[in-house]
Amino acid sequence: MPAQLTDVPSFDLVVFGGTGDLAHRKLLPALYYRELGNQIPTDARIIAVSRRNISSEEYRNWALNALNDHLDEIDDDIMARFLERVQYVSVDVSANTGWENLETALAGREDVVRAFYLSVSPDLFGTICSAIGSHGLITDKTRVTIEKPIGKNGTSAHELNETIGSVFKEEQIFRIDHYLGKETVQNLMALRFANAMFEPLWNSTHIDHVQITVAETLGVESRAGYYDTAGALRDMVQNHLLQLLCLVAMEPPESMHADSVRDEKLKVLKALKPMDASGVARNTVRGQYRAGASAGGAVSGYLQELGKDHSNTETFVAAKLEIANWRWGSVPFYLRTGKRLANRISEIVIQFRDLPHSIFPEDAGTIKANQLVIRLQPDEGVKMKVMIKDPSSSNMRLREVSLDMSFAATFNVRNPDAYERLLMDMIRGNQTLFMRRDEVEAAWAWIDPILKHWGNDREPPKGYTSGTWGPSASIALIERDGRTWHEE
Ligand code: BG6
Repeated sequence: MPAQLTDVPSFDLVVFGGTGDLAHRKLLPALYYRELGNQIPTDARIIAVSRRNISSEEYRNWALNALNDHLDEIDDDIMARFLERVQYVSVDVSANTGWENLETALAGREDVVRAFYLSVSPDLFGTICSAIGSHGLITDKTRVTIEKPIGKNGTSAHELNETIGSVFKEEQIFRIDHYLGKETVQNLMALRFANAMFEPLWNSTHIDHVQITVAETLGVESRAGYYDTAGALRDMVQNHLLQLLCLVAMEPPESMHADSVRDEKLKVLKALKPMDASGVARNTVRGQYRAGASAGGAVSGYLQELGKDHSNTETFVAAKLEIANWRWGSVPFYLRTGKRLANRISEIVIQFRDLPHSIFPEDAGTIKANQLVIRLQPDEGVKMKVMIKDPSSSNMRLREVSLDMSFAATFNVRNPDAYERLLMDMIRGNQTLFMRRDEVEAAWAWIDPILKHWGNDREPPKGYTSGTWGPSASIALIERDGRTWHEE
């Protein structure tokens, strides 16, 4: 079934960090797929920028290799058409040279969308934004996209937002959280707000608790240098997991308009109950992977990958959160994320409450409370676990079954990568799936005390063997409340 596409206006997309890892793994493949889907206007251009002194021809060869590495199948005609729109411009941002090359490349195209994508170290965001401004490159149709990390804490995020905000207006700034572009994350909104049956149950009267798991099997590998300055709390929880939590917990927005959705998410972030030192000790667990086995092979521990004897950086976090508002009072949200875990699974589990009373005889079996499992990856889909009468028994015996909706099997469409949607939304100027400044800062306001208390804590992160579900303390965190992590 072909995907339905929304038109995008013509554009010049300027990618700073054009020879970097993100361009290689995500941006170029996403743009190629949009080309394949005929969504890119005829005269749109992609201008890769970095400090390397190479020609556009050399860059196109590099891009072709990158695409060969990341695409399952290539259509030669489409690829030729795609590469024709790709150019390369050398600018050395740190030395502040080469900007005239970019001015020349962009001249005369003031009428099309001009999108700057900063796929570079955040240290350079300020310098690049100021130079874009001082070289007169900002037009009426300009946008700027930045990647996380947006700051290392609330203060640095605020400073960064101030710097970017001194050059661009908020409606021109697109802060990417690629989780918001994932297909099933979109579906979470459809599930909640396009169906009548969930919303009446979506509160503390009917929901016992919520679990959000983002588990990876990969380690930090070549990113160890960056990762050691971040850790799982900054790298995953501050953005991806809190954004997922917001979509589960927010009130119905007035419309899908960017500010309606972001206003509701902001209210959730502001309602997160802050943790003091004893709250952090009781409600958070941090871990670091040791050597073990992953995907069938032996793997090194974090410290070996990092090449150091010591580090207190966490590669795993589990936390119990409370949302202090009318809808969610008394409903814990359990979050966990980690590297080198047993399986690659991202999912949201809505656990409904037990029935108030059973009318069935004891030998009918246990009645399990309903569960809604929203699987983000892999095998995107939604499962609703319900109790039925066991058809193989002549007596009234009860059994749990899953009403299983796997999107791939149902729709037979390729699942677009999050970057495909986000890049096209950004060109169109739709900010619904991008983080607003106040959201980012509110998320840090909840994260900062945890970082502070962990920093004061002399105890290092708890070790866990690669290929397991993290430290045993994570299991204890949920089991002491009489609950268990969802695992299938
Ligand atoms: C990134 C993190 O934002 O998300 C990585 O920096 C992580 O550490 C990645 O591996 C996970 O994304 P995905 O889409 O593979 O689940």
